[in-house]
Amino acid sequence: MDHIIGNTYTTTIGNAQIGLYITGRDTVLIDTGRGESTTMLAVLREHDLYPTAIINTHLHIDHIGSNKLLQETYGCAIYCTSEEIKDKDGNSGIVQPNPVGGPFRFIALPGHSIAHQAVVTPDGVCFLGDAVMSKGSKLPYHLDPAKAIASMEQILSLPYSCYVLSHAGIYDSAQVRRIAEDNLRREDHFQSQILSLFDGRKIKTEKVAALFLDSLGISREKQDIKWVTDTAMARIRQLEDQKKLAIREGYASLV
Ligand SMILES: [Fe+2]
Repeated sequence: MDHIIGNTYTTTIGNAQIGLYITGRDTVLIDTGRGESTTMLAVLREHDLYPTAIINTHLHIDHIGSNKLLQETYGCAIYCTSEEIKDKDGNSGIVQPNPVGGPFRFIALPGHSIAHQAVVTPDGVCFLGDAVMSKGSKLPYHLDPAKAIASMEQILSLPYSCYVLSHAGIYDSAQVRRIAEDNLRREDHFQSQILSLFDGRKIKTEKVAALFLDSLGISREKQDIKWVTDTAMARIRQLEDQKKLAIREGYASLV
């Protein structure tokens, strides 16, 4: 477990950076990692900590893994945004809307998921979840790229001095701004990449997605994974919304 500042700590479960806000034994967790791992439980027991609540940045499978186990073991409350709860399909335990008032601050950063949020501890450490990503992924998942871009732009002006990215570690404000700018540039690049596939002809929309994924070096095998194609299609629809592409009867063409 790594100490960040004040009562705020972090630990890594699988590939996810978990937040812990510790007061005496009482601990508020921010996300719980992937899979029904007992690792989170072991960390809590090792440090004699008692989870009173879990706050999820969003309800994707790699953020809610130990939710149910911890809720069943300790009876802790689980919180997330109302929209995220309505949209959930994972096994996240019983989740209720964010508490009103209280010492944590919630910042709506939608786009990666329907109502993704950042969670700020009373020490001013901002857990950004998956609102921005490291360079590891060839095509970061966003449900709604336009909203994700607006959220990244919002991150550029957040006032905190310390940030935690779920799959990339701890950063200061200058570093997180650079990462957000880099994510924004990549989104621009993805758009240009899609538009460059057209040379005056119309192309089947699914074919555009496949060619786009090919151009990023994503194997055909990976392209069979639903979320990979979904997020490629989301970028294509974004260009349609911006009136850069027209989609008619399953074919896309430049406007
Ligand atoms: Fe996610």
